[in-house]
Amino acid sequence: MIAARFSLPLFPEQASTLAPRVDALLFFLLAVSTFFTLLIAGCIVVFAIRYRRRPGNEVAEQVRGSDRLEIAWSVIPLLLCLVMYVWGAQLYFAAASPPPDALEVYSVAKQWMWKFQHLSGPREINELHVPVGLPVKVLMTSQDVIHSLFVPAFRVKQDVLPGRYTQLWFQATTPGTYHLFCAEYCGTLHSGMIGQVVAMEPADFQRWLAGGTAASPAVAGEKLFADLGCDTCHRAGAQARCPDLAGLFGRTVTLTTGQTLTADEGYVRESILTPGAKIVAGYENIMPTYQGLVNEEGVLQLIAYIKSLQTTEAKGPS
Ligand code: CUA
Repeated sequence: MIAARFSLPLFPEQASTLAPRVDALLFFLLAVSTFFTLLIAGCIVVFAIRYRRRPGNEVAEQVRGSDRLEIAWSVIPLLLCLVMYVWGAQLYFAAASPPPDALEVYSVAKQWMWKFQHLSGPREINELHVPVGLPVKVLMTSQDVIHSLFVPAFRVKQDVLPGRYTQLWFQATTPGTYHLFCAEYCGTLHSGMIGQVVAMEPADFQRWLAGGTAASPAVAGEKLFADLGCDTCHRAGAQARCPDLAGLFGRTVTLTTGQTLTADEGYVRESILTPGAKIVAGYENIMPTYQGLVNEEGVLQLIAYIKSLQTTEAKGPS
């Protein structure tokens, strides 16, 4: 708000639901810091003048501590810090937990580009189209080194790591084109690893989506699943030597070690690339690794396919 009024070029536009909340906290921290900086600096100057050494007043008079003063300067900062902590934690949890109905976009970062794929198919490079007014979740991994996806106008930034998934979510509020940066030094062309987020009215976004011709990740994943021969073992029926994947995603899985876990993207990815790491109770460690046979985009497509089995199998009445 303050930034908008004075149009300080230091502050990017506020184009997501999170942006005004992040800015409000930032301005609160700035205000508190400014107040105490001025107060302390002012006291130093005033005391230095008022209690300076003067003829006839050569020796300082020692003052014993004041309990009331000490309690005041302990309790007030404590309360202020607790306000910062609670406010910051609320914002952190809001930024870290995407709403369950968020639209999903997959992203693979590599030196030096951002690849995005929408669940209905369209792929983009260094450009991300999103609708305004709807939450969007970006599930990200890297093909090589650590990158970081940063959209200043949305006040969101998340590291993108090789070997695991991270996510970021936002809900754009204003149609427009916003900068997208890599915010983690990732090699010589790091500064060129930039692009734009195009926030569109939902109707325009639907039109844009319909213009794409690429197969959806779930369809591409189904083909990959067959091409890699996964379906020879992973199938329903008595001869199945590996778990049937229908309805797997999001379910609780019991391992041979007795541990349980929830089948999420990270678990599925690990099971494709390092199958021996976690064996489901009742099965043998017979699956070969697909490391090198399937790239990060392929893994995301396989995950999308397995998720799609989930929605047809486990969809409640609606
Ligand atoms: Cu990617 Cu810096």
